[in-house]
Amino acid sequence: MRILILGGDGFCGWPTSLHLSACGHDVDIVDNFARRDADLELCADSLTPIEPLEVRRAAWYQVTGRDIGFHRIDVARDYEALLALLQDTRPDAIVHFAEQRAAPYSMKSSWHKRYTVDNNVGSTHNLLAAIVEAQLDAHVVHLGTMGVYGYGTAGVTLPEGYLAVRMDAQDGSEVEEEILYPVNPGSVYHMTKTLDQLLFAFYAKNDELRITDLHQGIVWGTQTPETGLDDRLINRFDYDGDYGTVLNRFLMQAAIGYPLTVHGTGGQTRAFIHIRDTVRCVQLAVEAPPERGERVRIYNQMTEVHRVIDLAGMIARLTGAEIDLVGNPRKEASHNDLLVSNRNLLELGLDPVTLADDLLQEVTGIAERFKDRCDRERIPCRSRWVAEAETDRSGLEGDARPV
Ligand SMILES: NC(=O)c1ccc[n+]([C@@H]2O[C@H](COP(=O)([O-])OP(=O)(O)OC[C@H]3O[C@@H](n4cnc5c(N)ncnc54)[C@H](O)[C@@H]3O)[C@@H](O)[C@H]2O)c1
Repeated sequence: MRILILGGDGFCGWPTSLHLSACGHDVDIVDNFARRDADLELCADSLTPIEPLEVRRAAWYQVTGRDIGFHRIDVARDYEALLALLQDTRPDAIVHFAEQRAAPYSMKSSWHKRYTVDNNVGSTHNLLAAIVEAQLDAHVVHLGTMGVYGYGTAGVTLPEGYLAVRMDAQDGSEVEEEILYPVNPGSVYHMTKTLDQLLFAFYAKNDELRITDLHQGIVWGTQTPETGLDDRLINRFDYDGDYGTVLNRFLMQAAIGYPLTVHGTGGQTRAFIHIRDTVRCVQLAVEAPPERGERVRIYNQMTEVHRVIDLAGMIARLTGAEIDLVGNPRKEASHNDLLVSNRNLLELGLDPVTLADDLLQEVTGIAERFKDRCDRERIPCRSRWVAEAETDRSGLEGDARPV
């Protein structure tokens, strides 16, 4: 298949591009390097030393003899370039990772809220409109988040996207229907993913676009078989307070002897998936497209559910790290239950990597190896969900990213 990977330079996009290329697909990456720009803005860097994309692509060619194309396009802003690329390449599938994906970053200031909405909703809608204008029948595989459901499930197992409801009709009969599971976003970032869902539903209905939306859990781990082939292919590892995801942050904190920063009570329960399973799930979804006219397929792309405090305990036992309960910057329940169905991807053949299999390898193989690159100043989360009123707006007007 010919596959475009939007956001193919990022944490999930890069290993997915390599994996799909290794599977024999013709892969082209589209990216505008917004994520690398955010590193500069935040004075943060990946714990692992990632190479520029040109070096990454050349290394992949050297190691495997396979070429991965690249197009520098801002998908949210440069509609004409995106349209021309679709008309020119006529891909069979488009994997869409090209969004601002950090909840804390999306809550930093009004600039960051507006940027996240404009970028994420703009990217998704430009893509859908361009597919229609180019008269393409490409299958869109989008990376959404488990966070669209909210985290209060009240003992119910979260279904995969749709909820069966019964309503009383006017004639006294009962009507059954399946509706999109009611959304309950916990940040501006999560809100953009709920808006994406509506865009997908509309274009699947109106234009019969073929769409799979993968509601992904929090990704942990760093390497995949392909990124491990050569140091120049190494994947990024974010540990800072904005982009670092909880489990990877704990792993790095343990490696440098920094107490594990648990927000609030740690009673928050979240869904997780290893990066090796992310790339495999995307492959499974790409290779099993929906029919034209089918409603949006929604899969819960997660493999395990854990309470944050239990994860911290697990890592503390493995490494001897201490646990530090710090104030929770988020506006959320202090604890929640979470039951999730992930039957669809298991039925397609997913054989999950578990925490028990791989946790120690991550601590020693990545966090220990690169711990000298860690900047401790970047560890605390400084974003606040409910912030003091902004008084200093200098540098935050217009389009420029605050640096
Ligand atoms: N990492 C996780 O734990 C996680 C969990 C659930 C869902 N997801 C979803 O998976 C997707 C990828 O996440 P990630 O962790 O790889 O994020 P990332 O920030 O590392 O990668 C996103 C990539 O998209 C690019 N990009 C952003 N806006 C763009 C635009 N307008 N035009 C072109 N390129 C653009 C960035 O430069 C970056 O390379 C996101 O949509 C995210 O919401 C990630």
